[in-house]
Formats: sequence, structure tokens, C-alpha cells
Amino acid sequence: MRYLLLLSALFFSVLSALSGCSYDNEEDLFPPKPNIGPCDTTAVLFSANVLPILQANCYRCHTRGNSLGGNIDLETFASLQRNALSGTLAGTVAHRNGFNPMPVGAPRINACDVAIIRTWARNGAQNN
Ligand code: HEC
Repeated sequence: MRYLLLLSALFFSVLSALSGCSYDNEEDLFPPKPNIGPCDTTAVLFSANVLPILQANCYRCHTRGNSLGGNIDLETFASLQRNALSGTLAGTVAHRNGFNPMPVGAPRINACDVAIIRTWARNGAQNN
């Protein structure tokens, strides 16, 4: 009897150890990067604020003539601006329903960077 108890205890501890490893939610494996400091979107500029985000997170795939990004060119300003004014750019980085979540294969960019892109697009996606 004691042997049976021991055996079942062993069985359940192995079972819980195994199930502990099978939880692979994308958000938990790749938590969004934390924001550093307060998020200031009062004076968003393309050159100073938006471009560095795109360079760091998107241009691996979305430069001119780059098929990794499905030939969606976010390097040529006119093409980037079209995607911004249509709402697609902000929709993809915010992972909104109906948009392909970007960046592919990496965690969502942090909330402040999403807000910067959204603000720039809403302000007319200017080349400033
Ligand atoms: C690893 C490659 C890769 C990276 C990095 C990447 N994308 Fe994409 N992106 C793609 C591919 C491939 C598509 C084509 C859509 C599809 O079939 O999924 C796409 C499509 C898009 C589209 C059009 C989506 C639509 O719904 O029509 C936008 C806008 C976009 N990406 C923005 C971005 C932005 C902004 C970033 C950076 C934050 C980014 N992407 C990072 C590969 C990438």
C-alpha cells in the first residue's frame, strides 16, 4: 500500500513537471519590450522619432526591393506615407484585428513606439 502511494505521488509529480513545460503562449515567451521612461508624443518628428523605430525593427524586411517584407517598401518615403495614412502601419504594430501583426518573428514593439508611430500617422505622416 505504501509502495502504491509512493508510486502515484511520483506519477503526479512527473505529470505536473511535464505539463509545466508545454505552455507556450507567444506573449509569455516574447513579452513586449518595457518602456523606458515616460512616453512623450507631443512633438513627434519623422527623422528623430519614427525612422529609428523602423530602422531597428522593420528595415530587415521592408527596404526597397526586399522580398522578405512581401515587397512592402517602408523605406521609400512615399510608400511609407501611403501605409501610414491608410492606418495600416499603426494597425500592424499595434496588432489590431484585421492587420498582419508586425514585426514578423519578433515581439511587438513597445507601447511608446506604437504611440509614436500612431501619432505621426495621425498628424499627416510628414517628412519632418
Ligand atoms: C521578418 C520580416 C519582417 C519584419 C521584421 C517586419 N515585417 Fe512587415 N511584413 C512582412 C511580410 C512577409 C509582410 C507581407 C504580409 C504577409 O503576408 O504576412 C509584411 C507586411 C507588412 C505590412 C502590410 C500589412 C498589411 O496588412 O497589408 C506592413 C504595414 C508592415 N509589414 C509593417 C511592418 C512594420 C512597421 C515592421 C516593424 C515594426 C515590420 N513590418 C517588420 C515581414 C516583416
